[in-house]
Amino acid sequence: MNGTPNANAKALQDRLKKEAGISAVDLVSPGMVLGLGTGSTTHFALEEIGKRLADGRLKDIVGIPSSLDTEKSAREFGIPLITFDEKQSIDLTIDGADEVDPALNLIKGGGGALLREKVLAQASRRNVMVVDESKLSPRLGTHFPVPIEVIPFAWRPVAEFLKSLGGEPVLRKKDGGEIYTTDQSNYILDCRFGPIANLDELAGKLGQKAGIAEFGLFIGTASEVIVATSHGIRYQKRNDS
Ligand code: A5P
Repeated sequence: MNGTPNANAKALQDRLKKEAGISAVDLVSPGMVLGLGTGSTTHFALEEIGKRLADGRLKDIVGIPSSLDTEKSAREFGIPLITFDEKQSIDLTIDGADEVDPALNLIKGGGGALLREKVLAQASRRNVMVVDESKLSPRLGTHFPVPIEVIPFAWRPVAEFLKSLGGEPVLRKKDGGEIYTTDQSNYILDCRFGPIANLDELAGKLGQKAGIAEFGLFIGTASEVIVATSHGIRYQKRNDS
């Protein structure tokens, strides 16, 4: 029986996410320290790493998770975990993204893990992002608000500050209406800016504002992006990486 158009689109997106996630695991070699991102696409990569560890295609892998969710999944899939106490440098991070521009800059944080994800990205020699084609965008901000993690004490003044920059901040809530909190017990303001003309300028302003713990613009961190399309996998490498 045929599904509804929405259900079909969702099923296609899930298939593409799975293909992207699995493809990234081909880049994993024995002995690597892995950064483990967060989200539904990365979840497929975690599952595949677990399978390859179980059947012997991979060995001697350790991972540093970017969220409590990922930590839980990685344990379920049998991926050995460490913290930055054991290793401070990551060979390869696999992570998802909400929006990807042609220069491979990203919006991340739809899953709320942006702060730890950025720590992993900055500690990684190689950052491979896994996305389906719906994440591609001519200019960041076209489709997705920028998630901004803020300490609870500061959320109102930070929201006013974001409005003064032309943004439309919305305090993230759970389905039941409760305020969403991150793994660091912070809040998230999802701030719609529309297509962002100057990423560096906006990032500079957000980086200066007290109370902002981290923001979901990832400029120049991705070394590669694996895009799953309905016509197959496309592999994009950042020009200067
Ligand atoms: C988590 O905070 C995010 O950065 C995710 O990586 C991003 O939202 C992509 O998630 P999906 O793979 O679920 O689309």
